[in-house]
Amino acid sequence: MSTTLTVQQNLERLGKYQYVEMQMMELMGSWAYTMVDPEIKIGFGRQMYQDSVHADLLGKRIPELKGRSAHFQNISPSNEFTRLLERIWQLKGDLARMIGLYRVLKPALVAVYDSHLQSVELPADEPTAYILRHIKDEEGDHVAWAENIITRLVRDSAEKNSSAALETELSNELHATSGIWGEGKPTGTYTFKKTHEHSVAPVRDSRWKIVERPDEFTEKNWSFDTMEGKQHLLHDLLNSEFITVERMGRIIADCPDIPWQMKMDMVHQAWDEARHAEIVQRRLEELGGYVGMFNTSCWGWEQDVNRADPLERLALSNMTFESESCKHLRDWIRKARAQNDTRSAQLLEFLLADEVNHVLYGVHWIDELTKNDPERRKRVLAYPDEVLKAQHPIGVRFDETTNAQERTV
Ligand SMILES: [Fe+2]
Ligand SMILES: [Fe+2]
Repeated sequence: MSTTLTVQQNLERLGKYQYVEMQMMELMGSWAYTMVDPEIKIGFGRQMYQDSVHADLLGKRIPELKGRSAHFQNISPSNEFTRLLERIWQLKGDLARMIGLYRVLKPALVAVYDSHLQSVELPADEPTAYILRHIKDEEGDHVAWAENIITRLVRDSAEKNSSAALETELSNELHATSGIWGEGKPTGTYTFKKTHEHSVAPVRDSRWKIVERPDEFTEKNWSFDTMEGKQHLLHDLLNSEFITVERMGRIIADCPDIPWQMKMDMVHQAWDEARHAEIVQRRLEELGGYVGMFNTSCWGWEQDVNRADPLERLALSNMTFESESCKHLRDWIRKARAQNDTRSAQLLEFLLADEVNHVLYGVHWIDELTKNDPERRKRVLAYPDEVLKAQHPIGVRFDETTNAQERTV
């Protein structure tokens, strides 16, 4: 008897892998703004995107194997499995969540990919092997990345024993659900929404001095012309990059029904912003600065992530704030070049290239999703002006007042 996997067995499994990849992406998106550790936020920005690519690759292989109807896609292994995901989603604290995701879920996924790869019918099913090898390698990298962080968190934790107990408990629960293949269990129908309470600000580690009232935030017309100006501007930009990883994560978690391609764009943006945070922090430090050297503000966050309509969030942050940020970046690049600061100029040019795409994501998805809904389009495009009229604190600069009604989408 052959031990290799048939077309039918592939179809039974690939949709489940895809489901788990998408769920992990949503867990990271949901958690990012309440994780304290900046290294984790950056890693989540990167891995949300990679997991979306994994789900996308699996989703493309399924119809090639004659799974052309939608019910072959995104299959929950079992209700018990989804309830375990929900339990992991509800865990509090960086360490417990890292254990749930990287000591339990992701290693289980690597193990099923590995065992699938050992049973692939070759060369008949070479296309499945090709994508699974790639996904397995990347998931293995995620687990290795997390292991360093978990070791550090456990070392600093007062609850070493309870984190070891949590890992054992979750692993046993996973085993009891029959895992990602869900063998012997009917496929799941249970769903849960990763909803959030009203959120005033994202969580920052103790180095940051986040001012709560906008009037505490004094702006001194910083310019990229001086070293102090550069440090101020890069320091503030660093916080904005983190905010954008976090707010993209929130769209993924809060709005599971948006089109798949829109999700891919949102997590691509999360990845871009995560890289920007790394780049900006490094440059700030090269210029003698450090995190927490100035006060900063998370103004705009509350008006963004608490809107039920993701398009209002994009109108405010992508089409308004990020469009504004493109203008500033162009100005900084000019000034950096004038001072022969080619290192800053070169890095900022990469940032600008990404930011232009982020503005376009806003323009494209607002246009696409409101083309048959003029009322929604009007409401969405009016939202930024509503926010800016209501509150225009010192510290957030708008060189030009753009009338949202006149923007072309
Ligand atoms: Fe950015
Ligand atoms: Fe951006």
